[in-house]
Amino acid sequence: PAGSAARPRWSYDHKGTVLTSGIRPPRQFATPLPVPPRARPARTTGGVDVYDITQREGSVEIVPGLRTTVWGYDGIFPGPTFTARSGRGMEVRVRNQLSVPTSLHLHGGVTPPHSDGYPTDVLVPARCGAAFEAARTAHGSRGGTHAPAVDWTVSPGHRTYTYPLDQRAATLWYHDHRMDFSAPQVWRGLAGMFLVHDREEDALPLPGGERDIPLMICDRSFEEDGSFRYPGHSPACTGTPGVQDAYMDGVLGDVQLVNGAPWPQAEVSATRHRLRLLNASNARRYHLVLEKEHGGRLPFTQIGGDGGLLAAPQRLAGIPISPAERFDVVVDFTGCPVGSAVTLVNTLANGRMRQVMRFRIARRAKDPSHVPARLSRFTALRAASAVATRHFDFRRSGAVWTINGRPFSTSEFLARPRLGTVERWRFTSDLHHPVHLHMAHFQVLSRAGRAPEPTDAGWKDTVDVRPHEAVDVLVRFRGYRGRYMLHCHNLEHEDMAMMANYLVV
Ligand code: C2O
Ligand code: CU
Repeated sequence: PAGSAARPRWSYDHKGTVLTSGIRPPRQFATPLPVPPRARPARTTGGVDVYDITQREGSVEIVPGLRTTVWGYDGIFPGPTFTARSGRGMEVRVRNQLSVPTSLHLHGGVTPPHSDGYPTDVLVPARCGAAFEAARTAHGSRGGTHAPAVDWTVSPGHRTYTYPLDQRAATLWYHDHRMDFSAPQVWRGLAGMFLVHDREEDALPLPGGERDIPLMICDRSFEEDGSFRYPGHSPACTGTPGVQDAYMDGVLGDVQLVNGAPWPQAEVSATRHRLRLLNASNARRYHLVLEKEHGGRLPFTQIGGDGGLLAAPQRLAGIPISPAERFDVVVDFTGCPVGSAVTLVNTLANGRMRQVMRFRIARRAKDPSHVPARLSRFTALRAASAVATRHFDFRRSGAVWTINGRPFSTSEFLARPRLGTVERWRFTSDLHHPVHLHMAHFQVLSRAGRAPEPTDAGWKDTVDVRPHEAVDVLVRFRGYRGRYMLHCHNLEHEDMAMMANYLVV
């Protein structure tokens, strides 16, 4: 990766553990790239769009010729893509018809605490009701081994999440966040994209319509019969944590999916395309490049990150993307011969997993789009504006992952920042940990004592903290008071206690 020569200590690589499938891997580039359908509001009342979503099983063909049972929002994987407007409120009424409790988190959303999808704020399906209540009152805890007692908030059958969306245009996503079981439940399909638009973005001549493509990138493994393979106890109504110790570094699949299809191919015109890259993998990191069929690479023009548009576009030869990060990029296929291919490649992987997907240039077309030199009004935070400095250390301790030496506890708060202020937070770690904050967005101030790298630009909600490297960020607490969390977004680390609360006061 770029910059590795100057940063020798980064060569210590934390990779996770590959879970080998029982199927023959599907043929690469044989499946057309699917684009998830848009979620449509069931109705609008008083300027608020109301959506109905059902979490249920669905049977889909991921591996050609086999059926996979997914746990999906509306029974599909990825879930439907929400398209929202900044400042226009949304209510999502969720019914849970799965066999497990869930918690829905809007990742990157500036969301009030009651709708944040806290891990113990669960939506319990009817069929779990009695069993879940019995276990909860018997143990007062999850009955697991990794964390002290927890408090629960239980909604039976259905509930409503409220998203005021008082935030700028950005590529967000939503996914399950159930205590101890986020990794297996997201793996089984509980994830989707969520796009926020605003006037500032509308006014830009960026590629739009079918040339604005969300790409949810994740890896999975499969059983012989086509079902998802995941190590450890299958999620149930109650029970012990789902991750096996042998996989506590993180589970890596051996089949690469984009928008739920294995190594897909997208037919594109020889024009500019906007790609919203999301790494929705449990634990896999990528360093993405675009390889042209006849040699050479195509650059990315980054226009945005986790928290929306950058001030100005920047050219990137490659993109390091850790779990939960987003890169909003424009790729220009104009110079590519019709009939040729451009492959999205992950240079961190070998063999078949080195390829992610392929673009096939199908035809020439008119292209009214361009990427203007100025994209958005962007206020860079100043270090001098920070009213407090805090340090969070991410590290393994025996059989759990900890923050400042503590496994997750729902009743402890590691910080009490004030609403409306900016703080300087320092993250340090033993390995790669993609650190994510709920509700509050931040800007990277420094990495390993040096200036941030180009790929750290813009507003972010997730940042990869690399081995033995301190990352300083300036966090702006804008939004709501209440309980939020910071955690590692390697989902196996998260399920093995690498989470902590902060309280906005
Ligand atoms: Cu995307 Cu708390 O997570
Ligand atoms: Cu981690």
